[in-house]
Formats: sequence, C-alpha cells, structure tokens
Amino acid sequence: MIIAVDGPAASGKGTIARALAKRYGLPHLDTGLLYRAVGLTVLREGANPENEAHAMAAVDFDEALFDDPELRGDEAGRAASQVSAHPLVRAALLNRQRKFARQPGGAVLDGRDIGTVIAPEAEVKLFVKATPRIRAQRRHAELQRRGSFVSFDKVLADIRERDARDMARATAPLKPADDAVLLDTSFLSIDAAIQRAVALVEARTAAA
Ligand code: DC
Repeated sequence: MIIAVDGPAASGKGTIARALAKRYGLPHLDTGLLYRAVGLTVLREGANPENEAHAMAAVDFDEALFDDPELRGDEAGRAASQVSAHPLVRAALLNRQRKFARQPGGAVLDGRDIGTVIAPEAEVKLFVKATPRIRAQRRHAELQRRGSFVSFDKVLADIRERDARDMARATAPLKPADDAVLLDTSFLSIDAAIQRAVALVEARTAAA
C-alpha cells in the first residue's frame, strides 16, 4: 500500500504521515527534506537558490545533512521552496522518491506532489490543509519553543510567500490530486487529525 500525504507548510502532513507509517508498519519518507538538503547546500556554497544551475550543482548533496538541525529551519525551508521550482531539480530527485514509493510492501511519503506526480497510483491520497493563519500560529509556537523569537507577522508572511511560490510554479505545483481526500486540520487537535486520517485510510482500503 502506498499512502501519499500532500499539503502546504505546517498543515500537519508530516505528523500525520509519521503516525500512519507507524500504525501500518510502513517506511516513511519526508520528501521536503530532499529539497531542503539541496537548498541548504546551495546556501552554504554561497550560491543562489533561484538560479537553476546553482541548484543543480547541489542535487548530489551530502547525506549527512539529514542529521543537521538547520535542515528543519526556516532558512532551509525557504531555499527548498526556491530550488523546488526548477524543473531540472525536480527531475533529478524524482527517481529516488519513486523507488522509495514502489518498494515491496509499500510506503508513506509526504510532500507537495506525491499524489499527482511521484505516486499517482497510490491507494490512499490525503491532502492535508489548514488556514494560513492557523499554520502560522503553529509554526510561530514551534519556533518559540526552539528559542527563536520571530514575530508572528513575519511567520505569516513567510507562509503566504511559500504557498504562493509552491502553488504557482509550472512543474508539479502544490494542488490536490483529483482523487485525493481533503483533510482540514484547522480546528483539529493532533490526535483528532491522526484519527481522522486513519479513518480515511481504513475507508479507502475497505472500498478497494
Ligand atoms: O514540506 P517542507 O516544508 O519541508 O518543504 C519545503 C519545500 O520543498 C516546499 O516549500 C516546497 C518543496 N517541496 C516540493 O516542492 N515538493 C515536495 N514533494 C516536497 C517539498
């Protein structure tokens, strides 16, 4: 079984994907980390994430980056969004994600284009969303917990900017697959969102 979990930044898709992977004993890939690793490598080279050639020079990034705390920070997220708009970068990362999705026994992947491009054949497709303001509140609270004091307005502006770029790009833009189930987590606790996701998986697999 392949489970595709797509959605915008801070929608809850990562938490939901991890919970589903644990529950069904499936391997999980957070595909955003691949784009983040490319983005962070470009930044550390002093290069420009908006330049496709610069970004392409970073697609063979050092795997040790997966343990780097900065990979999950906002700078890397913004650079990830910028490098992810380049079609050549998306093409370079495609096979790795497809292979992961198609391993025997199945997998859970979360990202922006799993249900539309990486694994259109996925048995279960969830599109997780929440209002920009609520996503910004979550991100802001998380940043404060980590001791980073950015203003709420800045976090909200970043979220809106990232949404706009991820939705507007020509290649594999952020949008629900036609057969995705929408899961709005705006007014759900983490536990309730996970329960809802499990119920959707059960409904899809029972119908199959
Ligand atoms: O999910 P995230 O915040 O870690 O993703 C960072 C950026 O990477 C996101 O703004 C767009 C890009 N991305 C993408 O284009 N396709 C994916 N499947 C995952 C992430």
